[in-house]
Amino acid sequence: MPQYVINGGKKLHGEIKVSGAKNAALKILPACLLSNETCAIKNIPDIEDIRRMSEILEDLGAVIVRNGSTMTVETKNIKRSNPKAELVHKLRSSIMLAGPLLARFGEVTMPHPGGCVIGKRPIDMFLSAFEAMGATIHEHEDFFTLKCHKLQGAKIILPWVAVTVTESIMMTACLAEGITTLVNAAMEPEISALAGYLNSCGAKISGAGSPIITITGVEKLSAGTYELIPDRIEAGSFIIMGLITGSEIKVSNCNPKNLETELLMLQKAGAKLEIGSNYVITKKSHFHGVELRTHEYPGFSTDLQAPFTALMTQADGQSLIHEIIFEGRLFYTDKLVQMGANIIMCDPHRVIVHGPTKLYGRKLESPDLRAGMALILAGLVAEGKTIVENIYQIERGYENIVARLQALGADITKQD
Ligand code: EPU
Repeated sequence: MPQYVINGGKKLHGEIKVSGAKNAALKILPACLLSNETCAIKNIPDIEDIRRMSEILEDLGAVIVRNGSTMTVETKNIKRSNPKAELVHKLRSSIMLAGPLLARFGEVTMPHPGGCVIGKRPIDMFLSAFEAMGATIHEHEDFFTLKCHKLQGAKIILPWVAVTVTESIMMTACLAEGITTLVNAAMEPEISALAGYLNSCGAKISGAGSPIITITGVEKLSAGTYELIPDRIEAGSFIIMGLITGSEIKVSNCNPKNLETELLMLQKAGAKLEIGSNYVITKKSHFHGVELRTHEYPGFSTDLQAPFTALMTQADGQSLIHEIIFEGRLFYTDKLVQMGANIIMCDPHRVIVHGPTKLYGRKLESPDLRAGMALILAGLVAEGKTIVENIYQIERGYENIVARLQALGADITKQD
């Protein structure tokens, strides 16, 4: 199996450009199903998750053409609304197809989406929302079928904030009859991006980016051209990479306004940053421990918790890392401990990091996408050779990562 081999200790320099947002692209592609005209999406990252989503759409009959970072998606010949289990199981975000297929065909049969190592991640809130909009649900052991001749607008209150549930309701309600009001909605920038795309196709969505979103159903959507926002998690990962290696690098093509809490927390921990309108430059800094709590946007993103924790292994004193969103998202810290970090797990949601500790190269398996990035970051400062296995997880979300880090001067190679 391919692996990354990193020789730590190199200073980085130069500029790294941020790609389009994975978690926006993974919703805008399914949203193309809401229209049978051809959509063109610009700035789509070239990553495994996008390949998996494209495979599912193509298997249903979509014609997808990639030209550089632009993808055109033609859905007029789609006749089926039952994505194949073997494809769905490779991608948890395949649940995003359920609503648009239901809205378009009046019926959808979905295998339960793939498992995930960062917590239970159930789909109950998706199903309750479809039910509230008039769908009937037939649950079987391995799959479920939703049916509804014409979806109806509804008032839907989320018991807690959930990103993909918010996006799923927003998409599905576009073609429902009447008004849908979504209360306690997530506010991530990717949600505003999705609403921007849908509105450009003729949808009537207001309030995206706030906790109450109103969607007035329309008869049909057309399709348009849309440019994805930069990936704020990729940007944050690269900023932490500059900081942990004590390097001056320019992270460009990003939107620091979407990373305000993360940048504040980094600065509280001692980071010296030059923040421009569309770039961040990292400077050599001295770090001290802080208390971090992840939170829904605009709080500190759970997706940057693992990279931040890796950084805190190099900070003076004690840090408390409190992961609020997912219950399985701190287990990777045992890998940092294997590298020499001093981390104590209090419970599945909290760890205490004592720093600074010297890290040593080890052979490690990447448990998930963001923890995989944390292992790369640790490997870049560790003494000796770090081997990261299960790199598919990392390539799910970071485009062409080896070549981009090599261009910054990192000693990282991909080996079979
Ligand atoms: N939840 C339920 N029932 C549901 C759906 C969610 O209880 O039906 C729970 C989840 O178990 C979790 C909470 O609600 O405890 C929040 O879930 P949310 O819907 O916000 O998470 P998600 O949609 O599964 C998205 C991103 C994640 C990101 C989280 C939080 C995508 C494709 N995924 O996940 O991104 O961590 O929001 O911001 O947008 C990543 O990119 O590495 C990643 C994991």
